[in-house]
Amino acid sequence: MTHFHDLGLAKPLIKAIDASGYTTPTPIQARAIPKLLTGSDLVGIAQTGTGKTAAFTLPLLHQLLDYDEPVGARRCRALVLAPTRELAAQIEENAARYAQNTKLRLTTVFGGVKPRPQIKALEPGVDMLIATPGRLMDHISTGALRIDRVDMVVLDEADQMLDLGFMPTIRQLMAKLTRKRQTVLFSATMPKQIRKLAEDFLTRPVEVSVAPQSTPIERIEQDVQLLERSEKRAALRDLLAPREMERAIVFTRTKHGANRVVSNLEKDGLKAVAIHGNKSQNQREKALAAFREGSVRILVATDIAARGIDIPGVSHVINFDLPNVPEAYVHRIGRTARAGTDGVAISLVEPGDRILLRDIEKLIGRHLSAFGAELEIPKDAKRPGSGGGGGGKRGGGGGGGGNRRRRPAGNQAKSGGDKPRQGNGKPGGKPKAKPASGESGQSKPAGAGQGRRRVRRRKSNATRVGS
Ligand SMILES: Nc1ncnc2c1ncn2[C@@H]1O[C@H](COP(=O)(O)OP(=O)(O)OP(=O)(O)O)[C@@H](O)[C@H]1O
Ligand SMILES: [Mg+2]
Repeated sequence: MTHFHDLGLAKPLIKAIDASGYTTPTPIQARAIPKLLTGSDLVGIAQTGTGKTAAFTLPLLHQLLDYDEPVGARRCRALVLAPTRELAAQIEENAARYAQNTKLRLTTVFGGVKPRPQIKALEPGVDMLIATPGRLMDHISTGALRIDRVDMVVLDEADQMLDLGFMPTIRQLMAKLTRKRQTVLFSATMPKQIRKLAEDFLTRPVEVSVAPQSTPIERIEQDVQLLERSEKRAALRDLLAPREMERAIVFTRTKHGANRVVSNLEKDGLKAVAIHGNKSQNQREKALAAFREGSVRILVATDIAARGIDIPGVSHVINFDLPNVPEAYVHRIGRTARAGTDGVAISLVEPGDRILLRDIEKLIGRHLSAFGAELEIPKDAKRPGSGGGGGGKRGGGGGGGGNRRRRPAGNQAKSGGDKPRQGNGKPGGKPKAKPASGESGQSKPAGAGQGRRRVRRRKSNATRVGS
């Protein structure tokens, strides 16, 4: 078994990992960290909740410790981009924890809050900057940030970062960065066409896939209830009322829909908070904090909260509406069963959404409805237009445990546990039968990473940039 000590990480980082209570690296960490330490470009695919954040932040921090000189005013060396403000903040929190025994400087910039404190934080220069693309470009255009010394760039939730909504900004940014940079992409999903687009930004990347892309983590029990739209409100109430529903995230397709669900739940005596793109940043943060600390156990969200958000103890994810984009399903349900725990995902599917269900089944390679191929898709069913939700275009935007949580009472059509359904009634596409794939793409020859960027010498210790 691999240990963190075997991965080649600097001592202060190992100490912080120990303090985090991690005993062994997850598979993506064990395989990606040594590759990233060579300076190689990398595409990392691993299921939700399996520690991708540490898989890229630890080797970045390690490399940042190698520099002799401070980066200089209004500059940064490592840039991590994320699609939502909440995710950017969470990555910074994680990275700061891993960097607690170093003097590395980290900061985060995102929209929806005043730029001035961010400008001040950038002023002395930072080692690692975590950002959402819009606000990052604002700071670059005003001169608050210069990116001529960026040597490493990570796109978390990379497939979303390279989709229509963000692509123009990412392209603009990448064009300004040195070609010698290390470029790193991570996600649980990576549609083929997006992977192809990514080639424009990568130099001889190594690919590390721990599971075929878009494979939901096995420990999520996935259920579907087929019902009429008019039945959904009562069905949701019945699902959420029982006590074993410890902490649930309910996803809706639209911001309006999220507000409506909250108000209906409250009429039904259940306390809930909403998070979506029409809320102020303050409201968004408050809602997430209330849910995280447990004062509210139901969070109603658009796809703005579908990706990356790590809240321990989310026992259930409920898709009040199915997402328009099948990959978003994988991310949404991945808000449960994180870091080795288990969880339940239940989708309420009205007749008009059965076509979306079929798309999801095709993507994940298994049936979710008990009716399999007989699932009747109404003739007038259309895929709803995209962009209605909160986060983005495609895909929108733990600890402890171990006991399987009981499903609350309900008349769900059971999906047949966690095993792929066999025999008849395959969904339209081929199930993904690929075994956990190994690394593909070419590894660089030894030493190929050297000389890619400014010469660095490993320092003996201390005199990092002051924090
Ligand atoms: N080696 C480890 N041992 C135990 N827990 C870990 C380890 N690495 C990470 N974790 C914890 O696992 C949880 C999930 O990690 P993380 O948020 O990085 O997942 P992810 O793979 O990025 O998921 P997503 O695809 O949803 O973004 C976090 O709470 C993190 O602290
Ligand atoms: Mg993540």
